[in-house]
Order: sequence, then C-alpha cells, then structure tokens
Amino acid sequence: MSQLHVIDHPMVQHKLTILRQSSTGSKDFRELLKEIALLMGYEITRDLPLEDKEIETPICRMTAKVVSGRKLAIVPILRAGLGMVDGLLTLVPVAKVGHIGLYRNEETHKPVEYYCKLPEDIQERLVIVADPMLATGGSASDALTMLKGKGCTNIRLMCLVAAPEGIKAVQEAHPDVDIYVAAVDEHLNSNAYIVPGLGDAGDRIFGTK
Ligand code: PRP
Ligand code: URA
Repeated sequence: MSQLHVIDHPMVQHKLTILRQSSTGSKDFRELLKEIALLMGYEITRDLPLEDKEIETPICRMTAKVVSGRKLAIVPILRAGLGMVDGLLTLVPVAKVGHIGLYRNEETHKPVEYYCKLPEDIQERLVIVADPMLATGGSASDALTMLKGKGCTNIRLMCLVAAPEGIKAVQEAHPDVDIYVAAVDEHLNSNAYIVPGLGDAGDRIFGTK
C-alpha cells in the first residue's frame, strides 16, 4: 500500500506559511518553492542506497560512501511543477528531467494532456513526479499512469499541499507510489481548489493572474 509521508520539518512549515499568504508575490513565491523542494528532496532521497568507494584524502586512502547505481529522474507536471525542479536539481545535479503537460478543464476539473517528453531510459530510473498541488488527484494519477505506460516501476510523488480527496484518489489508483507532502489541508471547494491551500500555484509562480 502506498505510504503518505508528511514532511513536517520546521523550516518547510515556516516557508510554506509564507508561500500560502496572498501578500507573497511571484518572485518570493518562486524562491520559497525552490527552497522547499530542495528541503523535501532530502526526505524523498533519504533511503537511497549507498555503496563503498575507495578515495584518497590529502592524508590517506579511505573507503567512503557514494550513492549507488540507481539513477534519478525528475518529472514536473506543467506548469506549476516547474517551480520545484531547480530545488531538486540543486540536490541531485545529475538527475535527468522529463516534462508532462496537463491542465485541468475549468468545468469538469478533469486533466487534459498536452505534452510529454521523457528521458529515453526513464524506465531504469527512480522517478520523482513533482507538482505543488494535489487537489482531486486527477492530474497526478494521469501522470503516474503515463509513466507506468513507459515502463516506470519506481515512482514517488512529491506535492506541497494536498487535499484528502486527492491523496485517496492517488492511493487507490496507484497503491505502489509513495506520496510526499508538506501539508494535508481540509477539503476541496466547489471549484476543486484546495482549502485553505495557496490559490492557483501556476498563476502565482508565473504571475498570470
Ligand atoms: C494545477 C496543479 C496540478 C493540478 C492539481 O495545475 O499544478 O497539476 O492543478 O489538480 P488536480 O489534483 O485536481 O488534478 P493546473 O491544471 O491549474 O495547470 P497549471 O499548472 O498549468 O496552472
Ligand atoms: N490547482 C491549484 O493550483 N490550486 C488548487 O488549489 C487546486 C488545483
């Protein structure tokens, strides 16, 4: 069964509170989202296996630790997921990046696919799907289905704010995918926005409203 990990580190919670406030403009929103993504990335990569490597320090030879073979891919769901990529790349600079473009139909709230470009060897990688908002769960579920269709078997979902409805939907559709969030909010409103949430993440990142 899929595990839900709530990353309640004080620095993540503090930055999220600033991010949520409507008085926070796009520049600060982008910076904070990047910082939170990096901090959340620490937790998501906590269990990566290590292996020994022989190195030489200025003093002597030693057996040191390096992250072993498993390769990583970061897949943001466009647009808002883009805001989490730089933070994750700061942590794992060698990761490859794929993109999945989905937008929600304003009336049905169902996701519509418009773009998909993934690394050729994506099925060999641990994939971190990034999207700040998990509302109905439709977009995340579709993105996970697309990745599984390309052969991915090792996927984690990273969101900033989640509604209980979205968590339930993803866990039912993808019981093999662990979900990492900074907050589980109260519920969805009649427009399928997360309450209290932070508004429209894409618009806040890119200043489109
Ligand atoms: C937002 C958000 C998620 C989706 C979440 O994207 O970034 O992708 O909604 O909603 P769901 O869980 O109900 O599917 P949106 O469709 O607004 O597109 P945008 O990122 O391009 O603004
Ligand atoms: N998409 C957003 O950007 N915010 C929400 O609250 C729900 C979906």
